[in-house]
Amino acid sequence: MRTILVTGSASGLGAAVSAALRDLGQRVIGLDVHDAEVIADLGNVDGRELAVAGVLDQCGGTLDGVVSCAGLGPYERPEPIISVNYFGAVAMLDRFRAALAKGDAPSAVAISSLGGAFHQIIPEGVLEACHAGDEERARELLAPTDGNTAYVSAKRALAQATRRRTAEWGELGVRINAVAPGKMETPMLDALLADEASAPAIHAMPVPLGRSAPASEIAKAVLYLLGPDASYVHGQVLYVDGGSEATVRPDEV
Ligand SMILES: NC(=O)c1ccc[n+]([C@@H]2O[C@H](COP(=O)([O-])OP(=O)(O)OC[C@H]3O[C@@H](n4cnc5c(N)ncnc54)[C@H](O)[C@@H]3O)[C@@H](O)[C@H]2O)c1
Repeated sequence: MRTILVTGSASGLGAAVSAALRDLGQRVIGLDVHDAEVIADLGNVDGRELAVAGVLDQCGGTLDGVVSCAGLGPYERPEPIISVNYFGAVAMLDRFRAALAKGDAPSAVAISSLGGAFHQIIPEGVLEACHAGDEERARELLAPTDGNTAYVSAKRALAQATRRRTAEWGELGVRINAVAPGKMETPMLDALLADEASAPAIHAMPVPLGRSAPASEIAKAVLYLLGPDASYVHGQVLYVDGGSEATVRPDEV
């Protein structure tokens, strides 16, 4: 039986991925701030240490998959967003790399976002601070901005971080990829649509397929990247967005 860590398992996409994996008979170690096998706050160093200890205790030091999905929406303050959505998300990849290397056909999937494609708003130095592991600097640079700026920064940095790990992780036999969802029907999208500041931009986003997607539909892409059908897919950012990203920037390949 495969053992997969899913962060953000209590809601939305994390819950949908967990349910789909359990339906396949796989063991899920869910991690969240509530209603999970491991309760930990990925927004700070102490919480991440608790997360690592709790997960290693439950899996016995070996994992076959990690889905780094926990995240805060753009309606939150910028500092917690960059801490959870980038530094917490990357910690859940890096800190379990050794456990994955011992796994069976191991695979990690980070959940980025369509938002990460809109990099023009990212303040200078933020992506560099993220990749240098300088959380304090990234928080400082984003403090005067807004939640959306921090969200776009975190999701772009996370997509880049997965690609930057391709060589080293490949040598260990661990695949790593990212999924970048577009409009996905979860409590996060509900909150964005209820917010007067963010709703117009969400409604204005072109979606060629003409609809948003339930979390269970995005979960299928995550399961594909986790599983044997994607055995030669490594270092990719898969936009699962009804065609939004390709419409906005068709020539970025
Ligand atoms: N909903 C969308 O339209 C959309 C689009 C693109 C990307 N995403 C991304 O998909 C992922 C899942 O989001 P969702 O839409 O299911 O949202 P959601 O709010 O339903 O779920 C997010 C989960 O993350 C958990 N979480 C938040 N902060 C945490 C912390 N500090 N420590 C541990 N767990 C924490 C929450 O408790 C929650 O269970 C997120 O990374 C989000 O940014 C969502």
